[in-house]
Amino acid sequence: MYLLPHGVVLAIRLVNHEINKLRKKRLLIALDGHSSSGKSTLAKDLSTVLEITHVDSGAMYRAVTLYLHEHNINLDDDLACQKVLNEIEISFEIIDGVSITFMNEIAVEDKIRSMKVSELVSKVSTISCVRKFLVDEQRKLAESGGVIMDGRDIGTVVFPHADVKLYVTASLDIRTERRYTELIEKGMNISKSEVRDNLLMRDNIDSNRTDSPLRKADDAYHLDTSDLDRGEMLAKSIQIIYNHINR
Ligand code: DC
Repeated sequence: MYLLPHGVVLAIRLVNHEINKLRKKRLLIALDGHSSSGKSTLAKDLSTVLEITHVDSGAMYRAVTLYLHEHNINLDDDLACQKVLNEIEISFEIIDGVSITFMNEIAVEDKIRSMKVSELVSKVSTISCVRKFLVDEQRKLAESGGVIMDGRDIGTVVFPHADVKLYVTASLDIRTERRYTELIEKGMNISKSEVRDNLLMRDNIDSNRTDSPLRKADDAYHLDTSDLDRGEMLAKSIQIIYNHINR
């Protein structure tokens, strides 16, 4: 389980009643949105308060990207990609309150967040056999319910019958600022314009690919996080989920 900062705990005190009721339901929640829209933080926080498992599907696409890159697989050769997919096993572990991605039992959390993987991952996520492989894995991870999964196609393709679907957005300026701060805190040497260009490039590929493009599911709730802090985002989502379940 993750630990919530004190400010976030304070922000959600008014929805404690809702949280207690929702915990018992072991919900399957689909959460989609662009990179750095706030969805990962929100997914982690919702998993903590609702006591359900968080699965970061983007980390799975990143792990496959890392494997294909490290094994010099030509990303334009679908057959070559398909051939190696069964060599890849992805799992998650919470260590000291932080979710760590493992690939073939090796921790790859830092490597999958590198700029190189960020540059290649959108391309890899257009490859249909990769998507099919990961969608199957994602469904297995949620077989017994009690899961919040974040990504691009979770509400539209992976779990069209999820109990609740959220679609999170934020302005490009805010997303650039968030991602830039995150990378600088990790010690990366990068400019804001590089971060912005990478986000724009990924938005473009993610939204325009033929297979499972990012889009809001018709029955998803739209949450604009541009002007919300972490606590407000969490409290608002809990209210949306509670109202939806009790509609
Ligand atoms: O959430 P993220 O930025 O770590 O995701 C990395 C990439 O993975 C993103 O550019 C698109 C792809 N992705 C996807 O196509 N489908 C998902 N369900 C999750 C991520």
